[in-house]
Amino acid sequence: MARCGSEAFQLGHLHKNAQSVKSIQTTIPYFGIIYCRKGIFCNTKALTSFTSTPGLCPVEMENSMSRPFAEISFTPSVRATQARNGSAEGYAKFLAGATQEDLISPVEASFIAQRDGFYQATVSETGWPYVQFRGGPAGFLKVLDERTLAYADFRGNRQYLSAGNLQNNDRVSLILMDYPNRRRLKIWGRAKLVDGADDPALMQHLSDPNYRGHPERAIVIKLEAMDWNCTQHIPQRLTLEEFEEYMAPLRDELAELKARNADQKDKPGQQR
Ligand SMILES: Cc1cc2nc3c(=O)[nH]c(=O)nc-3n(C[C@H](O)[C@H](O)[C@H](O)COP(=O)(O)O)c2cc1C
Repeated sequence: MARCGSEAFQLGHLHKNAQSVKSIQTTIPYFGIIYCRKGIFCNTKALTSFTSTPGLCPVEMENSMSRPFAEISFTPSVRATQARNGSAEGYAKFLAGATQEDLISPVEASFIAQRDGFYQATVSETGWPYVQFRGGPAGFLKVLDERTLAYADFRGNRQYLSAGNLQNNDRVSLILMDYPNRRRLKIWGRAKLVDGADDPALMQHLSDPNYRGHPERAIVIKLEAMDWNCTQHIPQRLTLEEFEEYMAPLRDELAELKARNADQKDKPGQQR
């Protein structure tokens, strides 16, 4: 048995590309395949178990972060703040650890393929961070290979804030949310803007002809680091489509009860 957060499961096999000793794959009847990576449930059938996500504590999570993430994020100011707050020593080991490259494993690929949006941060030449939500059909952020992500950038209000920022500074940071399962994947990378005319095959691969939206360019992101976050303080939310999955059987039941009720009323001697 293995412990993942507050729940214990029968261990399966270690994930092929797993980079953490905590990476396990477990099979649980009814719930299907569930990956437990870095202490997070990654249920490929998201909605079947959204209420079962355990509340994980930061300590459990931070025990399995990657060195690339620490190298990017633990700046001198961050480390000084950690020192003042008593966490520097614990986190220092991630900077001192063996060099480890973050690669997109099937666990992350599956998670990414289910997302219909993400938050993207870029940096302006005046040093201001800029966060924008990018939305699209589920899976519009595509994994090209284990080090590369890409998406079609749709025409919007033509302010071109993100695109403009990326011309000057290719650093990009994404946050991908799975609200029903309270999961969050953070991604750091370097982005390249590719004009549709320069790579029509790539644009075609990234575009969904059934989605309303005019793709203007491809944003190709070379992965630098990834980090799964703790579930704490992530509210559980469902989209209308996800909610419908729960509402449909209730609606059916209501319709059946109404029909039965009407039937009863129609029978002689049953009417009030
Ligand atoms: C007609 C139109 C108007 C829009 N107006 C806004 C807006 O006022 N604020 C906003 O955040 N997004 C707006 N959007 C969505 C953005 O244009 C879109 O998210 C785009 O990706 C923004 O990219 P940027 O913030 O990097 O410039 C609008 C989109 C369209 C098509």
